[in-house]
This record gives sequence, structure tokens and C-alpha cells, in this order.
Amino acid sequence: MITKIMKAKGQLPEDEEVMKEAKRIIDSGGLVAIPTETVYGLAGNALDPTSSKKIYAAKGRPSDNPLIVHIADTDDLSVIAQNIPDTAYKLAEKFWPGPLTMILSKTEAVPKETTGGLDTVAVRMPSDRIASEFIKICGPFIAAPSANASGRPSCTTAKHVVEDLNGKIELVIDGGEVGIGLESTIVDLTGRIPCLLRPGFISREDLERITGPIDVDPAVYNKNKPDTAPKAPGMKYRHYAPEGELTVVDGPHESVIIYINEKCGEASVSGKRCAVLATSENLKAYSADMIFDMGSRENINAVSHNLFSCLRKCDENGADIIFSEAFEPEGLGEALMNRLLKASGNRVVKL
Ligand code: TXA
Ligand code: MG
Repeated sequence: MITKIMKAKGQLPEDEEVMKEAKRIIDSGGLVAIPTETVYGLAGNALDPTSSKKIYAAKGRPSDNPLIVHIADTDDLSVIAQNIPDTAYKLAEKFWPGPLTMILSKTEAVPKETTGGLDTVAVRMPSDRIASEFIKICGPFIAAPSANASGRPSCTTAKHVVEDLNGKIELVIDGGEVGIGLESTIVDLTGRIPCLLRPGFISREDLERITGPIDVDPAVYNKNKPDTAPKAPGMKYRHYAPEGELTVVDGPHESVIIYINEKCGEASVSGKRCAVLATSENLKAYSADMIFDMGSRENINAVSHNLFSCLRKCDENGADIIFSEAFEPEGLGEALMNRLLKASGNRVVKL
């Protein structure tokens, strides 16, 4: 299969050709990668089991890992979800369109192939203009996991998507770099108390302002007991991972720098290529084969935005060993640290 790449702007009538082509593909059961405000998504018709199966195949994703259904209109919620609690509407009013995914009880309309066999469905309404246009024209129910090959860092540019899925999908809509760079916040509303399954740009504190206190799934910090499955099946897999061995180093800045430099020195003696993911403030303090700038520690949004592309650069440059600085797990920092922990397989050194 030849993967076509078409640029879009997020406004009609300029995007008419792209959207026409996208609709033709989605209607015939094919797959289209689209930008969203979080990361690129791999879109198919959420109500068509064959299309969902194709998504799993293209990503190399285990079929028990459910897909998020994307909508463009809150009125469409009742077609795919039932017993919707008031909290869901309150959260939708505050955060939709935007980077929030809610887990609700599913209706018959949603095939089990889309929900990985579960009776619940994940729903999100993206705010990105291209995504929204796409859902209105090609939807209204679009299944879209992140558009990376399973296990790899999510894609924040169309180029990343092509790296992972070239020849496996019909079309990539190139809308430039995404804004946020980390996947949506996921909250499960099927229990008595809302439960955070994946932290994201909308922080736990943002949610609690609307819902009151919420629970946090232990899998968020890899603290689930070995015999209990995380509630978001995707959280059990090693995720967002570069090919090199990533270690997160936490502690006072000076000690972190000394530790990483020492380890990079040892690695280079044994012929290994070492990469450091550093904040701008500390760039000059490191000595390693490659040093990637994640952005200023003062700007956690920028660091979050850059994380996945930095991890991909480590792969492109053949890093065998990677060290990253750590961040305060508060606000967006909670999402950033969650991704770093998953990417490192929970390999953290505390100094
Ligand atoms: O920002 C995002 O959410 C992006 C963009 C493309 O919208 N999508 C995304 O999808 O991150 P994905 O498939 O990479 O991650 C979805 C996560 C997985 O961990 C999956 O297990 C979980 O959501 N999930 C999906 N449906 C679920 C359900 N019914 N119950 C619990 N977890 C669910
Ligand atoms: Mg993903």
C-alpha cells in the first residue's frame, strides 16, 4: 500500500480536497492518520469492527487494548454511551472540546472490537480544528489510538507517523506539529468515585474542581500489584519506549548532573552511545555523545511537548543508553513523569 501525505490547515474550503479523500477512505473501511491537539491519531470508523481490526494490525497493537472513540458533538454521546452520570456532562461542558477522555458504559452500537472486548467505551472530543473537521465529515464516530507503532513514543508530527506506519495506512493528514504533545487525560466515570487512569494536560486538580476528590489508578505510578490488571488495559504495556535503555534520574540538580556524567563516562568506555534528555538550564553541564534539549524547567508545557520527539531523536541517533532528568509530579508534571516512568519501564534512580 502506498501511504499518501496531504497537508491541511484546519479550515474549509481550503481543506476540501483532503477531507474528500479522507472520507472516501474512511467510508471504505480504511485508515487515516490525523493531527489532534494532543498527539497524532490513527483514525477509522469506530462502528465498523473490520476497521478497528485494521487499526490493531497497522499499529501491531494487542487487540485487548481498547480504542478511544472521538466525537465532534456532545449530542452524539448518547448513541455510544449509556447510564451517563451528570458528572460526565459537567466535565464535558468544562473541558470539551479538549484533551479529556471519559470512560462510560457502552451501548450496543459500539462493537466489542473497538472496545477490546470491554463493556465500557472511552470517548473524547478533540479541539484541534483539523480533527474536528475530520470527525464532522468522516464520522461522527471515529476510533483513534495514538498513531505510533505499538510501544513506541507517540507521534507529535506527521513525519513521526510516516516513520512508524508508512505503507500500512492509506493517508496521513499533515497539520504540522501538535500543540500539547502528551495524550489526553483519561478518567473512568463508571464507578461511584471518578478514577484517573491516565494523567494528561487536564490535571487531576482541574478535574477535582468539577468532580470533588477522585481516585487514581495505581497503574499511573506503576504501583499496581502484579496480579491486578490496570483499569486502562494500555497502561500494562511498556509504552512510549525508545530503543535505548532509559533511566530517569531524580534528586538535587547538581547530584543528577554528576551521576549522569559519571554513568555516561562509564558507558562510553564500554563502547556504548549515551544520550541525555536535559532541561535547557543544564544543557552545558552534561558531557555525553548526544544531549537533547527538552526546554526550560520553568516551562513544563514545553518540556511535555518535546518529550516524545526527544525520545525519537535518541532512536534516530542510535543511543544505547539514555538518561533523563525528573520533574515534580504536579499539574502537567504528573503526566510528564507518568510517560517517563512508562518509557523507562519504571527504571528510576533516586539520589
Ligand atoms: O490524546 C489521546 O487520547 C490520543 C489522541 C489520538 O486522541 N489517543 C490515544 O489513544 O492516546 P491510545 O489508544 O494510544 O490510548 C488510549 C488509552 C489506552 O491505554 C487504552 O487502554 C485506554 O485508553 N482505554 C481505551 N478504552 C478504554 C476503556 N473502555 N476502559 C479503560 N481504558 C480504556
Ligand atoms: Mg498510545
